[in-house]
Amino acid sequence: MKPRKITDGVHWLGAIDWDRRLFDSLIPLPDGTSYNAYLIEGSEKTVLIDTVDPEFSDTLMAQLEDVPKLDYVISLHSEQDHSGEIPTVLAKYPEAVLICSPKAKIFLTDLLEIDPERITTVDDGETLSLGDRTLRFIHTPWVHWPETMVAFLEEDKILFSCDFFGSHIAESELYAVDEAQVRKAAKRYYAEIMMPFRRTIEKNLEKLRPLEVEIIAPSHGSIYDKPKFIVDAYRQWVSGPLANTVVIPYISMHGSTAKMVDHLVSALVERGVNVRQFELVGTDLGELAMALVDATTIVIGTPTVLGGPHPLVAYAAVLANAIRPRVQFASIIGSYNWGGKAVDILAGMIPQLKVEILEPVLAKGVPLADTKARLDKLADSIAEKHKEKGVL
Ligand code: FEO
Repeated sequence: MKPRKITDGVHWLGAIDWDRRLFDSLIPLPDGTSYNAYLIEGSEKTVLIDTVDPEFSDTLMAQLEDVPKLDYVISLHSEQDHSGEIPTVLAKYPEAVLICSPKAKIFLTDLLEIDPERITTVDDGETLSLGDRTLRFIHTPWVHWPETMVAFLEEDKILFSCDFFGSHIAESELYAVDEAQVRKAAKRYYAEIMMPFRRTIEKNLEKLRPLEVEIIAPSHGSIYDKPKFIVDAYRQWVSGPLANTVVIPYISMHGSTAKMVDHLVSALVERGVNVRQFELVGTDLGELAMALVDATTIVIGTPTVLGGPHPLVAYAAVLANAIRPRVQFASIIGSYNWGGKAVDILAGMIPQLKVEILEPVLAKGVPLADTKARLDKLADSIAEKHKEKGVL
């Protein structure tokens, strides 16, 4: 794809990755993604902001064919889907200076073997004149690495935000047209990589508040020419009200745990509590992550296998622990036959979830009346807790 104009002298470069289905060998990408770079031609200096995933080297280099001189390459974030082609660009433009945050200098030399002599670091708030335009660099640590920063093109009011506000979505439109679709893709992105850092993201949102931003140009997905909806969405995901929702990821090997989940779901719905239920065989873990963004409670369902939780449940628990959702309450339900330590092992896998544990419910074999009564009691507890939190 050829460069696409955003404003006079500012162009989108990059690649649309329609077919990618997995990121970091972990994160499902049902809608593909894009790697956005940006070229700014000031009256005196020309700048490239970020590059592309190395798989799309030829695409970026073809887009730069008609750019005779590059004064600066700016790296907002060192992860290789944006920085991977910096060495190729620096080789093409031997006079170009690489600009990044001080922490990024270490990362870029470690990850890409870039000559430190080519790098100039910028402090928080520092500006760079391009002649008729000015770029202001704002450090935004932990969005989602410690070295991340954004750049604000003051005259055009464009915020280049890299992963911040990004979405994994491949589409031919340059701007976010279908806001509901883009919001969902951005929520998935937030849930999978940003959520663990929501406290610093909240601070960074406040830090950006004084800027009069007319366009947000992230490094993945659509550009926002009406940026309010994505900023508002981030505020909601980071610190908005929680939902009256219980998320139940589970596995059932021979049906007993599934019967317990069915009973609990029915009991919760009767009490006015909403449920998102995820049978984990083949499930899209991104959907689970999204559901956890504003859920109040998580109940994990597992049979006992090899003396512990089912490995797929353990995988989901490790993931939930890593992405650190705002859930307030947790419990575990499931069946066993000759014993085991499924509850203890699972509870030990979620230390980063700052939750109150509600009484687990285990059944020996199929769930009989006493088990169903304990599930009803768990539903009572959850409803009560949701009322106390003001979500029910
Ligand atoms: Fe899109 Fe953190 O890289």
